Amino acid sequence: MRSPIPDYLAEALSSVEADQSGATADYIPELASADPNRLAAALCTEDGRLYSQGDVDAAFSIQSISKPFVYALALADRGFDEVLAKVSVEPSGDAFNDLSLEPETGRPLNPMINAGAITTHTLAGPRGATPQERGDRIIDGLSAFAGRRLEVDDAVFSSEISTAYRNRALANLLRANDIIEEDPLVAVSGYTRQCSLLVTVEDLALMAATLANRGVNPRTGRPVVPAAVVRQTLSVMATCGMYDGAGDWMTRVGIPAKSGVAGGLIGALPGQAGIATFSPRLDVRGNSVRGVALFERFTSDMGMHLM
Ligand code: DON
Repeated sequence: MRSPIPDYLAEALSSVEADQSGATADYIPELASADPNRLAAALCTEDGRLYSQGDVDAAFSIQSISKPFVYALALADRGFDEVLAKVSVEPSGDAFNDLSLEPETGRPLNPMINAGAITTHTLAGPRGATPQERGDRIIDGLSAFAGRRLEVDDAVFSSEISTAYRNRALANLLRANDIIEEDPLVAVSGYTRQCSLLVTVEDLALMAATLANRGVNPRTGRPVVPAAVVRQTLSVMATCGMYDGAGDWMTRVGIPAKSGVAGGLIGALPGQAGIATFSPRLDVRGNSVRGVALFERFTSDMGMHLM
């Protein structure tokens, strides 16, 4: 029997299509010029069935959605103690690009804000890895989550790095506090490259489904990170993944999630499915307007809320 899910996804997309509110991210020139009308959704079940509708072939940069996956790689590569010594797990209540350091320790408050993510970027791979080896580890790791080889969009990378004054400032302060232990510009450059990886909505659904499936990619069957790492990652996504909108999100949608400024949004429903949406116009918090609306609808229609 044909699954009703594709028709449901198509109907959900048409219910939000008319909403033109929000704006594409303007601080990265290459994103400001993206087609704002693109719209897509995908769902991948824990046993690997993948459904998608809309602009499913559109490739866009992963941006902040890379953060939970690189956090997971850092935990797997360096262990919890080493990572927690550098990055806390407390919601900041501030914007994604705020400094948000813990006053007593100088640690970034969590790995989902830029300051925390620049730090976890430096912790991926074995201690002593070169920036090139670390970059390769990140591309290999995120590709394993997605189940296919991901590539960097050089135009997005160049566009962002040429205007990354704020992230450079954050990295310099992290270096001054001995939170990162290398040239701040090398850290920002690697982090920006990680954010420039190209994905489709189906890739994101599969990456989220790998988290929902305790770290095993449900289509390739490959274990990517241990279950304890996934538990830590999903917990931080639940409390910090939507930045200063995290409380609103948790009460209204109720699943661990992560957004990106190119318009992607993922949610992971442990033991059940990974869900992803793509729509480039963002709200003031940097979260996709129609993506949030779609997730609110999925929760009310499918009872996804964990509480
Ligand atoms: O560091 C930045 O500003 C971007 N590369 C990523 C920010 C982002 O995606 C925030 N999320 N909504």
